[in-house]
Amino acid sequence: MRARDASPILANQFTVSGEMHQEFGSGRDPLGRYYTDPSIGQAFVSLLDRRHASSILDLGSGGGSLTVAAAQRWTDARIQTVDLDFGAEENIRLGMASAGHLAHSHLVADVLDENLPELIGGPLFDLAVCNPPYAKIRWRDGFARILSEAGLADLRAVPAEALPSDIMFLAQILRLAEPGAEVGIIVPDGLISARRSRAVREALLRRVRVMRVVQLPRGSFRGTEAQAHVIVFRNELGRGEDVDISNLGANGVSSPLSISSSAAEARMDYGYYGLRTATTGHRFTLREIHADITRGSLSSSEARECCDPVFHTNGFVQADPLAYRLSRERLGQDRLGRRIAEPGDILLARVDRELHRKVCLVIEGRAVMTDCVYRIRVPAMWRSSVARALMSANGQAALVCASRGVGARMLNKEDLLDLELETA
Ligand SMILES: C[S@@+](CC[C@H](N)C(=O)[O-])C[C@H]1O[C@@H](n2cnc3c(N)ncnc32)[C@H](O)[C@@H]1O
Repeated sequence: MRARDASPILANQFTVSGEMHQEFGSGRDPLGRYYTDPSIGQAFVSLLDRRHASSILDLGSGGGSLTVAAAQRWTDARIQTVDLDFGAEENIRLGMASAGHLAHSHLVADVLDENLPELIGGPLFDLAVCNPPYAKIRWRDGFARILSEAGLADLRAVPAEALPSDIMFLAQILRLAEPGAEVGIIVPDGLISARRSRAVREALLRRVRVMRVVQLPRGSFRGTEAQAHVIVFRNELGRGEDVDISNLGANGVSSPLSISSSAAEARMDYGYYGLRTATTGHRFTLREIHADITRGSLSSSEARECCDPVFHTNGFVQADPLAYRLSRERLGQDRLGRRIAEPGDILLARVDRELHRKVCLVIEGRAVMTDCVYRIRVPAMWRSSVARALMSANGQAALVCASRGVGARMLNKEDLLDLELETA
C-alpha cells in the first residue's frame, strides 16, 4: 500500500529536520536511520510471548530487520510496514520476498501524522514490533489527539521537549493495536533510566502492562554505539504488576530480575539493578553522606590562557590515584568563581568517554579545575573509602550506568549524588 501523494510529507519532514536534534549517534541522520543488526532482530522477536499472530504492524520499518525476523517467526500473519523514507521500500520488499512472506503491505507515510489510522485503514493489529527514530520533535497540533486516543492523555502535561519521536511512535502503535495486543519496541536508555523521563514511565506503566525490559548490547544498531532497551508490553491497563528485567549478552538473555512497579517508575535498566544485587558491602550514596560536589569553572579557552596550574580530564595520569599529587606551585591571587582542587578532594571527570576510569584522591598541591571535572568533598574519615568505592569495579559500572551520551559521556550532578556505591 502507498500513500497517494507521499512527496509533500517527505518534503515537510525535511523542512522540520533542521530542528530535529538527533540524540542518537553523532551522524545526526534526520530520520534516525540507525538500523537494527539482523542478529538483534532475531533475538528481539524471541522476546515476545505470542505464539500465534494474525496481523503485525511495524512503524518506521526501515529495511525490515525487525519485520523480516517477525515474518520468519509468525509465518501466517498479515504484515503492515510504514516508513517515511522512499529508499527503505525496495529493501523491505526484497527482504520479505526472500523470507517468502507474501501477505505484506508497505505504506510510505509519516508515522507522526494524526490521520495514520485512516491512511492504513483495515482492522487493528494483534502484534507490533518497532524500532523508532529517537529525535526531539517540534510539537504539532495533532499530537494532542494522538496522545488522547492512545490513552496517554496524561502525557500532555509533560513538557513538549520531553516527548521525543519514540514516545509518539509508541502512542501511534497504541491507537492501532487491538486490546490485549502484544508490543515489542526498542527505546533509548534515557526513557528507561533518566530522571527526566520518570513522568513518561509512570504514564506508561499505568496505561499498559509492561511484561519485560531487556537491555541490549551496545553496537546493536548500525552507525551508533547508543544504549537501548526492548520494552515488551500488552495493550491492557497496568495494575502495579512487577516487571521482569534482563540483559541480552553474548550468552543470550540473562535470567530475569523482578522489580516492583514503583521501582520501575524510578528506572527499569538491568545495568542498575543487576549491579545492586551483585553487591555485598555497605551501600551508600554521596547524597546520604552529604558530599559537597562542585563542578570546575574554567572553559577550555580560559584553561589555555590560565597562568596557574590547571586540572583537566587529561590530568588523571599518575600511577597511584589514591595519592594524587598536584602542583606545589603557589596559585596566583584567587579570582571570584575559580574552583580550586586541594588535598583531601576527590576529583572525577564530568565529561569524558572514559569518565568511569578518571577518579583520584588528591594528597598534595593545588590546581584550578576545568568545567569538565567534579570536586567531591566528604569528611576526612570517609575520603579513602569513597574514593575506593568510586574506583572499584562496581563503582565504575555504576558510573557507566549513570552517565549518558554516545562517544563523550557526561555525568549529571544529581545522578552522581544518587549513585549507589559500596564500601569494600
Ligand atoms: C531507527 S530506524 C529503525 C529501522 C528498522 N525498524 C530497524 O530496526 O532497522 C527508524 C526508522 O524510522 C523511519 N522514520 C523516521 N521518522 C519517521 C516518520 N516520521 N515517519 C515514518 N518513518 C519514520 C526512518 O526512515 C527509519 O527507517
